[in-house]
Amino acid sequence: MPGVDHPPPRVEKRGNVDAFRIVGGRRLEGTLPVSGAKNAALPMMAAALLIPGRSIIHNVPHLRDVVTMHKVLAELGARGGYPNHSFEVDATELTQVQASWDLVRTMRASIYVLGPLLARMGRAKVSLPGGCAWGPRPVDLHLRGMELLGAKVELDHGYIVAEAPAGGLRGAHIAFDISSVGATGNVLMAATLARGTTVIENASREPEIVALADFLIAAGAKIQGQGTTTITIDGVSSLSPVEFDNIPDRIEAGTFIAAAAITGGQVNLVGARPDHLAIVFERFRDMGVRFAIEAQSIQIEAPSRLRATRITTAPYPGFPTDLQAVFLALLSVAEGTGVVTETIYPDRFTHVPELARMGADIVLSDHVATVRGTAQLSGALVTSTDLRASSALVLAGLVAKGETLLHRVYHIDRGYERIEDRLRGVGANIERVSIAGP
Ligand code: EPZ
Repeated sequence: MPGVDHPPPRVEKRGNVDAFRIVGGRRLEGTLPVSGAKNAALPMMAAALLIPGRSIIHNVPHLRDVVTMHKVLAELGARGGYPNHSFEVDATELTQVQASWDLVRTMRASIYVLGPLLARMGRAKVSLPGGCAWGPRPVDLHLRGMELLGAKVELDHGYIVAEAPAGGLRGAHIAFDISSVGATGNVLMAATLARGTTVIENASREPEIVALADFLIAAGAKIQGQGTTTITIDGVSSLSPVEFDNIPDRIEAGTFIAAAAITGGQVNLVGARPDHLAIVFERFRDMGVRFAIEAQSIQIEAPSRLRATRITTAPYPGFPTDLQAVFLALLSVAEGTGVVTETIYPDRFTHVPELARMGADIVLSDHVATVRGTAQLSGALVTSTDLRASSALVLAGLVAKGETLLHRVYHIDRGYERIEDRLRGVGANIERVSIAGP
């Protein structure tokens, strides 16, 4: 279903940076549309490199990360356009195989071009992605997967330099020791054009990987088992251009449900996939939120005060690590003591000191956060450190007493399209302001 039309994110004025000014205290009421999934659109855009011809992906959100991936594809020679919320790309002629440092460093998902370039062009030179706000983000599983498919992989001055064997990649049996969304996606894409059969064990079951597999099957790939921990790919000689509808963004949907929940509001969420949110619904229900789930919408009704609960993040269908920060904000104002255990990225707590500035009572011990709910947070000057931390601070600002000024909102523009416009559309007192840069 095509996304609701939003203007693309405004480019920051030189010398000024965007911030959000939020005044807390409003209940959210009304209808919120959910955009297309960022973490499905990014690998699909990379997968288009496998396909000579013009492919179209509908329901692609206007985000910084999507613009970055568009630039990476353009650098490789793929010609792309972005009318409304449909990304069109023609990868008939790829003119080079290098994804450069200045693009990859801004978005680690650029590594998704590694598999498609190796499969289509036989060579790839991709800058090693750096870490991120909460620590190292290794790519060893991606590289091991490419080696098992027959590629020679070396690291040279900060670049991954990979070369497929003469005759192309070869099908292989690949058992990942941990479940990795990115490594599963990269191997899945590369294996579609490999000679022979590839089996991926301990594959990621995330809906975004299922959507990627469905996109590749629509282009002529032979894939089975997507959505389970064992995916089988029978290589084909080539893929054909495809037109494909992207899935909705479950993390954005969860963020919007949390915005309704934290303000004690009543919101109708349009375009989300309830089947992608099962465990998230359970945790919200623990906290007192009620849902009426229909075919195309989810009615959310929140209590005046939430109850505390316990969260442990895990690979899908477990609780998504990308909603951990948001739930920490919810627990900061819930009745009782909540516990959040982060098992995917043990250091993913850069939002904690910022929430503490607003009065949250959170004790961190190793990868476990214990949160004693407080009746009232207070508005403050706070700083975004990464995409999902930013959304947690927006939610805290929606209920804090007084004004919150959230700096560095370019982080949030990476993953939420004009979030301030959509929240204002259901009653939030939030605006984007330009302030003197740091
Ligand atoms: C994807 O990142 C998402 N990004 C992340 O969302 C999400 O947090 C993450 O999956 C987990 O669900 C995109 O899809 C673009 P992983 P990815 O490989 O693929 C370790 C957001 O906010 N690992 O599943 O990089 C890794 O350190 C972003 O939208 C290795 O050790 O995550 C982590 O502990 C943030 N070696 C675990 O696996 C590797 O080669 C899971 O990471 C790869 C990963």
